[in-house]
Amino acid sequence: MKISKILLLAFFIIKLSFFAIADEGMWIPMLLQKYNIEDMQKKGFKLTAEDIYSINKASMKDAVMLFGRGCTGELISDKGLVITNHHCGYGAIQSHSSVEHDYLTNGFWAKTQADELDNPGLTVTFLVKMEDVTNDVLENINENLPEQEKQKIINDNIEKIKAEAIKGTIYEAELKPFFNGNAYYLFINKVYTDIRLVGAPPSAIGKFGGDTDNWMWPRHTGDFSLFRIYANKNNEPAKYNKDNVPFKPKKYFPISLKGFEKDDFTMVFGYPGRTQEYLSSYAVKNIMDIINPNRIKIRDTKLSIMKADMETSPKIRIQYSAKAAHVANSWKKWIGQNRGLKRLDAINKKQEFEKQLTEWINADENRKAKYGNLLPTYKKIYKTLEPLDYVEQYMFEAIFGIETINYTWKFNKLEQLEGDKQKEAIEKFKKTIHGHFKNFNLETDKKIFAALYKMYADSVPDEYQLELVKMVNKKYKGNFNKYANKIYSKSIFTDEKRLTSFLNNFSLKKLKADPFYSATMNLINIYRQKIATTTQNINFQIIDLNKKYMKAIMEYKKEKLLYPDANLTLRVTYGKINTYEPRDGVVYKYFTTLDGIIAKDNPEIYDYDVPDKLKELYKNKDYGQYADKDGTIHTCFIATNHTTGGNSGSPVINGNGELIGVNFDRNWEGTMSDIMYDPDQCRNISLDIRYALFLIDKYAGATRLIDEMTLVK
Ligand code: ARG
Ligand code: ASP
Repeated sequence: MKISKILLLAFFIIKLSFFAIADEGMWIPMLLQKYNIEDMQKKGFKLTAEDIYSINKASMKDAVMLFGRGCTGELISDKGLVITNHHCGYGAIQSHSSVEHDYLTNGFWAKTQADELDNPGLTVTFLVKMEDVTNDVLENINENLPEQEKQKIINDNIEKIKAEAIKGTIYEAELKPFFNGNAYYLFINKVYTDIRLVGAPPSAIGKFGGDTDNWMWPRHTGDFSLFRIYANKNNEPAKYNKDNVPFKPKKYFPISLKGFEKDDFTMVFGYPGRTQEYLSSYAVKNIMDIINPNRIKIRDTKLSIMKADMETSPKIRIQYSAKAAHVANSWKKWIGQNRGLKRLDAINKKQEFEKQLTEWINADENRKAKYGNLLPTYKKIYKTLEPLDYVEQYMFEAIFGIETINYTWKFNKLEQLEGDKQKEAIEKFKKTIHGHFKNFNLETDKKIFAALYKMYADSVPDEYQLELVKMVNKKYKGNFNKYANKIYSKSIFTDEKRLTSFLNNFSLKKLKADPFYSATMNLINIYRQKIATTTQNINFQIIDLNKKYMKAIMEYKKEKLLYPDANLTLRVTYGKINTYEPRDGVVYKYFTTLDGIIAKDNPEIYDYDVPDKLKELYKNKDYGQYADKDGTIHTCFIATNHTTGGNSGSPVINGNGELIGVNFDRNWEGTMSDIMYDPDQCRNISLDIRYALFLIDKYAGATRLIDEMTLVK
């Protein structure tokens, strides 16, 4: 078939003796043998491609998992012990926390296996095998069909292939497009559902530096937590049951205590979520000029309200810590991304590339017919899209960024359902209400409501104005606070008791009369009428364009080994331990130490309040076997692995296949790597595994966990 031929061409490598792949790239484990392994070995990897991914024998892939829905975790003992980030386990840790048992603040260490805490809803997913199914998915696709129809046939094919692949098994199937739909891979997964919390350091360690240090190097965050996978007696997935036993894995990572040096080989194996390396200059401009700046502005406002309230009470701090961290995380990433793209002169670089590509296209009549329209069409489409994208930011980032609006929207389901189905949904809602209100502070949400509606009112053109805005302008002289006071004290969606009693005596009329509900529906209607009709159509065109554009790039760059954008499938990235120069005259070292934590210590600042116990260990140099040969405890390190969101918790592996760290972040100068990677500036940030072990052993005294591990000295 045509498409696989193009792929082959794109993958074709001229094996010159000086050939080397840059550190950029997120590679498909199944294809390492074919494309990367020689390069990896040249750079210091001492094992084989089969040791990383094999369907015949135990390999590293059997020790790496998708943790929850957006992080990575890895096995570190033959008893199902898993390490991931503190920020990945945060939800679980928080769910077991209360003002009385504040595991977020104090940490949590299960004394015995019986004390490990179950986490309903938390799963880990292992890849059993993957397969290239491009030909099957694209079978019978007539390229001339409208994109919407093509997508429908593709989706039908996908569902068929998935169903077939797991018929009669306990597995789950996933099938995803690669290279913007020029290739498709099938993934057979095994999902474990009894995952228990084993240990977590206090936030003062696991979140040390908080949002202040987030996305920054130098860094000192002890960003890890420990879980254990439980299975039934046959070692298979099972729902939580106290009789379940620790999972016995095929493979787990040995842990190196030997340390590492600058330029040493490193590999990160995990689940990167999303990158967009093959965007046109028009799309990048849209991100830089419209999407990022407006989202940043809206979140500035929201965050300042959350933070101010969190400082007034420990209760609000617990309620909003995860929410604020979540809002702040992307906010800060986007700020870094825009700076990085500017610094890289990304739009000019893309335009330069597009000029060359256009010359290449125009040099051949055939190519001109196939690809000649691509860039002009992008240009036209983004011109239409920009003003709509602008309004969308205010609709979804601002108005839907108000928790009560977002929450209210969920209940729209009840309007769609009837009879027993509706009753069932009502019962389901009742079970979740308490969870929602446990982390809800009415006054905080009210302030956010007033501020973000005001922003919408001030920023969006008249034709997209909301009923609520018009009404508040008229009846309340534009005073959103005043209106908020009124509806927050009355609505069924702002009070646990009112909502419960409403659901106990459900009435559609009452639902529709609620001010939050009507405001939400009004926004949705305006969105559907004035935006979605156009954007839906455009988005289908973009899918089609992106696919052709990618194909053109693959033909044009056929001597270059290209990697597909991240799509939350298992990938390998490799590079080396390295320093970088953030500014002229400044070089950042590749590691940080406990000395740096002590230097930052300040009990007055929440993010830098070092626990006494840690200070005492430091004072006594009580480091056990975990100090580096320089005599200090190394805390974090940087390397050139190309990672993104979802890689958090990923194992960082040395040339011998041993665990040396747990990936958790990137540097601020490098967050544009999702769109354009810069080998000079992009670094992934990892926790030195020796710091984690030091904390588990010396700080927490959880030696039973150390005894389970395989330490390489
Ligand atoms: N920036 C890291 C990542 O994107 C860590 C986020 C969690 N920490 C925080 N302070 N918000 O996930
Ligand atoms: N901190 C991110 C994560 O949670 C990793 C990154 O974006 O580099 O996956």
